[in-house]
Amino acid sequence: MNTLNSALTGFKCIRCGKETPDASTYVCPACSGNLDAVYDYKAVKKTLTRKALEQNPDKSVWRYKDILPIARYKGVPIVHIGWTPLYKAERLGQDLGLANLYLKDDGRNPSGSFKDRAGAVAVAKALELGEKTITGASTGNAASSMACLTAGLGVKAIIFVPEKAPVAKIAQLLVFGAVVIAVKGTYDQAFDLCLKATEEFGWYNRNTGHNPFTREGKKTCSFELIEQLGWDCPDQVFVPVGDGNIISGIWKGFKDFHALGIIDRLPRLVAVQAAGSDAVKRAFESDGVIRPVSGDTLADSISVSIPRDGEAAVKALKESGGYAVSVTDDEILAAMRDTARRESVFGEPAGVTAVAGLRKAAAQGLVKSNEKTVVLVTGNGLKDVASAMKAVGKPYLIAPDAGELKKLVKEQDIR
Ligand SMILES: Cc1ncc(COP(=O)(O)O)c(C=O)c1O
Ligand SMILES: [Zn+2]
Repeated sequence: MNTLNSALTGFKCIRCGKETPDASTYVCPACSGNLDAVYDYKAVKKTLTRKALEQNPDKSVWRYKDILPIARYKGVPIVHIGWTPLYKAERLGQDLGLANLYLKDDGRNPSGSFKDRAGAVAVAKALELGEKTITGASTGNAASSMACLTAGLGVKAIIFVPEKAPVAKIAQLLVFGAVVIAVKGTYDQAFDLCLKATEEFGWYNRNTGHNPFTREGKKTCSFELIEQLGWDCPDQVFVPVGDGNIISGIWKGFKDFHALGIIDRLPRLVAVQAAGSDAVKRAFESDGVIRPVSGDTLADSISVSIPRDGEAAVKALKESGGYAVSVTDDEILAAMRDTARRESVFGEPAGVTAVAGLRKAAAQGLVKSNEKTVVLVTGNGLKDVASAMKAVGKPYLIAPDAGELKKLVKEQDIR
């Protein structure tokens, strides 16, 4: 395993295409566009093969070290990240008329969301650089991930979150011992304040998209998908989109494996956004330019006015021949019930947004029954119980009395 050297050769700007040797400025020095890590695939090919992976007992994101951007590992988070389950979703598939549907449950990561993949690499990079303080702004999950993954490593996490982030996510931050700065404003405002903090205090910045290494962690999900599907590439992947960093990471993963000759075709990506927070969809369907939207949705994790990796997301959709779907909050809540009741997976609102998008696309005839379709569930339902309660009714309430119970069973026809 290549642990001492990385095949990373530099970075390329997603906006202007200019190459730059390092990411010390985080973004492109010429145009401030987000950077994309570039690798020497020829070198990686020597060690990262199907055979090598088949023989690798490490079932975590670190099995892909050869195509990650860390040259000298000085430490990694101590908990298990990645290699989340991929389920054949038979029952949900039946409901939607799809015979080949899979569900990847990334809510099973240590802090309960997909963001642990990004955090894994960002934290390893911070340790490699000898950073002592990492800061990040987040709708909640990237932050709770960072707090979880830095715990026990002697690195301080300073987090900016919108004041209205769900209480469970704030509880996670505090329990893991992060310094939590709740901002009286939106995620977008917290993001900008966090950038200012980095300028002012020199803290290492992990902000989604702004830090090019978050995408590198996120791409590991695609590697796993290919392995879990028996080295086959899905026909399409449905991805919930806020900032657009997950979808651009998913695309990067497939492109990496394609460039390495591990797969010989690429999937179509489908971006699913909440209707009030659909800047990527709007840009993709018009001139490609990201313009602010209200960001209004109950799915707090994808409530974003200006997507911070929106250009990369639009590019991923274009390159993959994919499309975008938007869904209402009611459709998201319905997807939460469906995913839990049909497949035993409880996702937070953003976590099941791609399921809602899949239902819509399938109803419009955009998904063929036999196509290998993967839908990503990106966050655990326990992160936002208040929203979950909006998706369901209240429990029956009775006195601890057998007579009352009998009456209830009869009246409600409970069997
Ligand atoms: C659970 C969940 N799903 C989806 C997303 C969307 O990811 P991105 O903002 O990279 O598009 C997020 C981001 O916070 C998230 O936490
Ligand atoms: Zn540029």
